Amino acid sequence: MMDLQTLQQDLSAQITGAADITALEALRVHTLGKKGIITEQLKSLGGMDEAARKTTGAAINELKSHITAALDARRAELQRAEMSARLAHEQMDVTLPPRAVADGRVHPISQTIEEIIQIFAQMGFCLADGPNIDDDFHNFGALNFPDDHPAREMHDTFYLPSAPDGRKMLLRTHTSTVQVRTMQNQKPPIRIITCGRTYRSDYDMTHTPMFHQCEGLMIDKATHMGHLKGCLQDFLRAFFNVDDLPIRLRPSFFPFVEPGAEVDIGCSRRDGELKIGNYGDWLEILGCGMVHPNVLMACGIDPNEYQGFAFGMGIERLAMLKYGIPDLRTFFEGDARWLKHYGFGLHDQPNVAVGLV
Ligand code: PHE
Repeated sequence: MMDLQTLQQDLSAQITGAADITALEALRVHTLGKKGIITEQLKSLGGMDEAARKTTGAAINELKSHITAALDARRAELQRAEMSARLAHEQMDVTLPPRAVADGRVHPISQTIEEIIQIFAQMGFCLADGPNIDDDFHNFGALNFPDDHPAREMHDTFYLPSAPDGRKMLLRTHTSTVQVRTMQNQKPPIRIITCGRTYRSDYDMTHTPMFHQCEGLMIDKATHMGHLKGCLQDFLRAFFNVDDLPIRLRPSFFPFVEPGAEVDIGCSRRDGELKIGNYGDWLEILGCGMVHPNVLMACGIDPNEYQGFAFGMGIERLAMLKYGIPDLRTFFEGDARWLKHYGFGLHDQPNVAVGLV
């Protein structure tokens, strides 16, 4: 029979000295494994008389729990050390630019949306949002489109199966749905923009079934057409970076505004090249108008107390004009070479203070 005391001292010293988890595991097998020293000791109990078995058994069990505890303690210690070493080795400066993704590119649509938001935020507009899948009421009904109005057809709507409560569902054909949602949920004064996806069943050089719009809405007691024109002029001048960019409003029809207008910006088409600026020619860029009293009423706002304006524009169109991208369809083809050419770097963050590229 081994001297248990010596054995305990010996094993404890080995455990404390184990250099790593592998060495420690070998020690565990060596002591407590099926053929381990302590296990063998326990087996030897069988050949003893009852009294000896009792005292020796208790002593071996005590040794066993002592060694188990020592193994656990050393394991925890080694794991802690391993973790500290790993943390020291893997530490990084999170304020450094992420080198691994430096090849990635920001899509011109994302960049343009960010620019639009920056400019309108400076003018005190808040961001609003709404769902891509909406019902007929938010897309048409509340916006003063009568049930059989031909303007509904003009939108080439993608209809979806009706909702369980019978509502006619669709993919929104314009972001004007967000005007409705905002007026239903907020009390004037309201000053919001929203940027997002819109859908129409159409496909050629200048149409894709999914595209993006930016919508603006301002409602207060005395908001008028002059505010609308000034606001759009400031926006367009900042966006295109042309200080003297002329704009003009031409009467136009949208069921949800009265009066309604289309906005043109100055341009030149000389020698087949389109240039934005004060060159005497005109280019249509967006739709706008004073929110129709029927729309205010449908959204629970009293048209005798409040009035305001709305505008809507195509984000791809703005991006194409600003960045000289000739074909709308290429925006959504996911061609990495296109994105490398037209995309933006991680750090080209639009910011009105620094300038908008
Ligand atoms: N929703 C209109 C469209 O998609 C644009 C618009 C918005 C016009 C707001 C006037 C006012 O064509």
